[in-house]
Amino acid sequence: MLKNLANEKEIVEIIFYISGFFIVIAVTLILFFYFSRKKIIQKELEKKDLEIQYQKELLSAVIITQEEERKRIAQDLHDDISSKLNIVSLNSYLLTAPNLTENETLGITKTIIELTSKALDNSRKIAHGLLPPVLEKFGLHAGIEELCLEFSSSKVVEIQYENKTSFDITDNDRHLHVFRILQELMNNSLRHGKASTISIVFEKKNDVYWCFYSDDGIGFEMKNNENQKGLGMKNIESRIAFLNGKITFESSINKGISVVFNF
Ligand SMILES: Nc1ncnc2c1ncn2[C@@H]1O[C@H](COP(=O)(O)OP(=O)(O)OP(=O)(O)O)[C@@H](O)[C@H]1O
Ligand SMILES: [Mg+2]
Repeated sequence: MLKNLANEKEIVEIIFYISGFFIVIAVTLILFFYFSRKKIIQKELEKKDLEIQYQKELLSAVIITQEEERKRIAQDLHDDISSKLNIVSLNSYLLTAPNLTENETLGITKTIIELTSKALDNSRKIAHGLLPPVLEKFGLHAGIEELCLEFSSSKVVEIQYENKTSFDITDNDRHLHVFRILQELMNNSLRHGKASTISIVFEKKNDVYWCFYSDDGIGFEMKNNENQKGLGMKNIESRIAFLNGKITFESSINKGISVVFNF
């Protein structure tokens, strides 16, 4: 009888310890999941914060560029058009003066003709800078060909451009972004990379356009550059976001730069 009682006591003790053990494991697991979930949520929030911060930076880059572009256009209009039209207006007024000799009239008329034609040329240049006419009339391919010609005419850089696809001219509004991206990449290759060769290749795979861009310039360290992106790079990224595309940059010192983007 006594032995039975001792046995039962032992069994109760064992059950007690085993349940205690399971309770401790259950509590540990619950705590573990609770804290790891909290950590995951915290990481996700941090990621979201970074994304928002990045979007804000892109937006402010767009606004700053827009303002700089406005300032530049205002300066061009002021220096190249308004000042000339001002003199034209003064000269036209002079023409109304009485008792002008034939020579004086001729001189004033000549100045007016010269200045109006200069103002016309300048206004054409400003308009072309804002929207290259070849791009609008003949599409992206012709626009890029002209851009390559402009760059290679400097004799500083050779440009190899190959287009294995055709661009739909009705998509020109989107293609203007591709044109501006290439313009910035080429500017950077010359200005920072001191490149002597630039290569541009376009392909189309499964309805997606791909552009492969590279130069043989001095390149740069990507890690250092991540925080030093200027307006140019930020604008490229916001144009790519607008095109619902993706872009990757690869570069290292003395290895040039290679950029791949799709749209
Ligand atoms: N092709 C390249 N070769 C070497 N360095 C480059 C090249 N492209 C970009 N970089 C580096 O990346 C930096 C950022 O370029 P980004 O175009 O954003 O700014 P930026 O050209 O300095 O100024 P901005 O374009 O606003 O006039 C450059 O200052 C340069 O150090
Ligand atoms: Mg730049």
